[in-house]
Amino acid sequence: MSEPILEFDDVDIEYSTRGDNAVHAVNDASFAIEEHDYFGLVGESGCGKSTIADAIVGGLDENGEVTSGAIRFKGKEIQDYSEKQFNKEIRWKEISVIPQSSMNSLDPVMKLSQQAVEMAKYHTDLSKAEAVDRLRDLFDVVGLSESRIHDYPHQFSGGMQQRAIIAFSLFLRPSLIIADEPTTALDVIMQDQILDHINELKDDWNISMLMITHDISVVFENCDSMAVMHGGQVAEAGSTVDVFDRPRHPYAILLQNAFPDVRYPDRELAVIEGHPPQLREKPDFCTFADRCPWSTDECYDGAPDPQPIEGDESHMAWCVRAHEMEELAAEHLEKPPEASSILEGSR
Ligand SMILES: Nc1ncnc2c1ncn2[C@@H]1O[C@H](COP(=O)(O)OP(=O)(O)O)[C@@H](O)[C@H]1O
Ligand SMILES: [Mg+2]
Repeated sequence: MSEPILEFDDVDIEYSTRGDNAVHAVNDASFAIEEHDYFGLVGESGCGKSTIADAIVGGLDENGEVTSGAIRFKGKEIQDYSEKQFNKEIRWKEISVIPQSSMNSLDPVMKLSQQAVEMAKYHTDLSKAEAVDRLRDLFDVVGLSESRIHDYPHQFSGGMQQRAIIAFSLFLRPSLIIADEPTTALDVIMQDQILDHINELKDDWNISMLMITHDISVVFENCDSMAVMHGGQVAEAGSTVDVFDRPRHPYAILLQNAFPDVRYPDRELAVIEGHPPQLREKPDFCTFADRCPWSTDECYDGAPDPQPIEGDESHMAWCVRAHEMEELAAEHLEKPPEASSILEGSR
């Protein structure tokens, strides 16, 4: 297998807070994004998804820090890069981010074409005309009219601004694009259209994508592989087909059953009771244990180690009962039909 484009290796991320214990937002997180893959990171609000995205581009809030483990991009450790190094080597050029709230990321006093010229001047040897041409092509890619490239951002609706930002995120031909909950600003149909457009470039440019969302069905529809997070810990990771056909972490199982599923229109949706714990210390237990119908004393006895799941070697579940879960879950839940047949049909 080729080297992953991005690798999280046992990463801890903390936010220091004045006069209180630090927030342990991400703990022992491990996952890998293979080159050319669309990777989905899913989990409910507050589980640490944006913290992971921010850490990858050196964009953690002032009080945030990667306190242990390694983040490797194309094999190089980047977790200790300075802001200057990130700006010079990584941001936009190699990894670009489509942010969760994008309204402030365009310069309000500059025409979009001028912003492209500035970006090209700083990062490339393109001429002004070439920079404008490139933006024009990208407007086409994201479904904006090319005639609008000389507009100011305020002349665009919110949805159009979001598309313009996506065009800029593609401008320097990065190898990894991080989309942090783009659905919150884009409606679903628009999102599908844009993904279709990006998919057209995927092969030419060898693009990989980290797609962050709280909606597991978005991952199911769009991603090759995925990780499910709960309470600052990775719960399960693997190919999308494996995680859907053979989920082995209770949270992944329940999450899948908590969303409407085209494969199973009449199913009653499972409700996941309770909340993840506040993490003011590094958790030495499974953060899902309190909410888990199958938890035992062992779940509170140390953070769970990854259990390889039979089949593809990338499929892991961080659950001490992973190997019993198929049986345990079958007693509680109706199992939907296999995902692989449906995925093949839709691709
Ligand atoms: N700057 C910060 N200072 C303190 N805590 C923070 C900060 N940013 C995020 N957090 C906390 O870190 C945890 C993870 O947040 P986040 O990564 O934004 O989650 P998600 O994107 O999954 O909703 C949450 O408990 C959140 O309150
Ligand atoms: Mg977030």
